[in-house]
Amino acid sequence: MDGNELIKKLEGLVPAFSEGLDQAFSLEDLEALRIEFLGRKGRLAEIMAALPAISSEDRPLAGRTANEVKGRLTDLFDGRKAALEQAKDDSASATFDPTMPGRAPWRGSLHPVTLVMEEICGIFKGLGYDIVTGPEVENDYYNFEALNIPADHPARDMQDTLYVTDSIVLRTHTSPLQVRTMLARKPPVAIVAPGKVYRRDSDLTHTPMFHQIEGLLVDTDVSMGDLRGTLTSFVRQVFGADVKVRFRPSFFPFTEPSAEVDISCVMCGGKGRVDGKPCRVCKETGWVEILGSGMVDPAVFKAVGYDPEKYTGFAFGLGVERVAMLKYGIGDLRMFFENDVRFLGQF
Ligand code: PHE
Repeated sequence: MDGNELIKKLEGLVPAFSEGLDQAFSLEDLEALRIEFLGRKGRLAEIMAALPAISSEDRPLAGRTANEVKGRLTDLFDGRKAALEQAKDDSASATFDPTMPGRAPWRGSLHPVTLVMEEICGIFKGLGYDIVTGPEVENDYYNFEALNIPADHPARDMQDTLYVTDSIVLRTHTSPLQVRTMLARKPPVAIVAPGKVYRRDSDLTHTPMFHQIEGLLVDTDVSMGDLRGTLTSFVRQVFGADVKVRFRPSFFPFTEPSAEVDISCVMCGGKGRVDGKPCRVCKETGWVEILGSGMVDPAVFKAVGYDPEKYTGFAFGLGVERVAMLKYGIGDLRMFFENDVRFLGQF
């Protein structure tokens, strides 16, 4: 073999290797090709074995060509190998099974507290009540003073109220909306006011923030019978026609007379026991309290400039979490505030 022949044979390896690469569809194919061309007994080695036999003039060029060819083959090999490895990764993650059921997009849902607020506000809206809102950081005057809660009243105790300054509080109830509404509007007035309220209270059944809905109706000749009829029909719309309603005498500084409203316990159906065991919702009484109410106290009318001789009205305040717990059978108040989607997604 002379030098020229050897160089030609060496150069011929490049297209032959390329062709082989075109047929190498797996890393195994590729490895077989590498052994065939670049292996210890491969085609390159075989040609190189003839190198010592050629003339010493041709040998340097032949040697250089051999190195170049080896470099080319190695580059081609590396490129193909990288491409095959990439393809292997891609196909592993992109396996597509057309028989798999589709993945439904996640759907948001309203918080049970929001649902109950919307339902209750909707009921009163249907009766012609307006929905109003007001500030959660409230002036002492609206939260207490104008509601006939004088400075020395126990409800003002630091135990219950979160103070921002001496005269500014986080509202402890939605009742300041009674005052704000009456100061802004002339009678007749019919409003409901949903919102957050705050108290210095935190245990199993109390959270420092919870929700209330305030209601207020003022007109000439509003009677306790109107309060009773309105709240009874409202409660039946929320809890069903079979629920029993009871009005219990109570006291609030801003209503006179006052009544707390109980409904027959939704857990035990008013029996006080579930499966022979004491009902933990009503504590065996068969009744649960859901709202406070009463006839607007004349002192409140005076504070807002309504004539108590001409106008009468009723007001009520209801705890939203409480209603939601009873309505949906939720046993733990803390569920409302943990934002666990497994809980929230059920409503
Ligand atoms: N504001 C009272 C409370 O938070 C509830 C209430 C509202 C009572 C309106 C009577 C009239 O307990």
